Amino acid sequence: MSGVRERLALLEARSREERSTWRMPAFAGIDPGLPFVPEPFTQLYHLPVYETLSPHQRLRYNQLFGLRTNEMFMVFEKGVTAQLIGHLKSALGDGDRVLADCLEGMLVEEARHHRMFLQFNRRFLPEGYNRGGRCFSRDSVLERGLLPLLGRYSGFWPLLLWAVLVLEEFSTAFSRWLLKCPGLEPAYLGLHRQHLKDEMRHVQLDEILLNRLMDATGSLARIRDGRLFQVFFRRVLSPRHSGPNVVRYLAREDPSLESRCPEMLRQLRRLPRDPGLTRLLEDPEAMPVTHAMLGRYPGFRWFES
Ligand SMILES: [Fe+2]
Ligand SMILES: [Fe+2]
Repeated sequence: MSGVRERLALLEARSREERSTWRMPAFAGIDPGLPFVPEPFTQLYHLPVYETLSPHQRLRYNQLFGLRTNEMFMVFEKGVTAQLIGHLKSALGDGDRVLADCLEGMLVEEARHHRMFLQFNRRFLPEGYNRGGRCFSRDSVLERGLLPLLGRYSGFWPLLLWAVLVLEEFSTAFSRWLLKCPGLEPAYLGLHRQHLKDEMRHVQLDEILLNRLMDATGSLARIRDGRLFQVFFRRVLSPRHSGPNVVRYLAREDPSLESRCPEMLRQLRRLPRDPGLTRLLEDPEAMPVTHAMLGRYPGFRWFES
């Protein structure tokens, strides 16, 4: 237990230090001639129709897909992560100053990430983000109704924390992948380098909290949560949501793609799972904390191995 206390104190001290020097990047010179993400991270790259796109169309698709990925992080940061961490701070932070400070630090950092991602996306695509924080995704029933409702019941906090851990560790794996790839756009890399610094601490905090919550969860609730988690993750991995909206946006911008848009969407619908997300989420080296937790709680595995 003292090991946990020391880890929390270290995480809190690092977070405080990082927050004291943080500045919002200006993103003044985003290079429109460079891709944002590795090509295999995108969906169309894995489909025959990609061969028919010109180099300029592929580049634009890659950039829009990179903005959609930032948007995915924004949605979780403002939604399930902020709600759950707020609940955990109220319930567990009383009488535990260090934990309360860690959770408060995480809330501040997530709000900053949201502003940072939005600032980048607005700079690059002002016409897509001039009315709010969403261009490719929709406010779903799950986000608006179900997740906030579940968050009100402490019995569902372990389930929600599983989702937060996996998505936050995914963001670290994604950032590391970008930083290893040559030729990507420097401002996009800088954004994710900055995000990685904070998210590495958040993953450690998630792991400490999840172990604590799972130790206090009965076996029937673990079975229920494992099944719900599998359903949730299969939904996240289905490329049927914001991915097709990236293709629609591309075709609206470039009328020469209009006639090929239905075929692009048809091929996209035939993808069983998002290839970029799957590649990282199911790699134990990219996601060591998640896979260690899945080793302890195999009922949460959403994939065959
Ligand atoms: Fe974040
Ligand atoms: Fe985070």
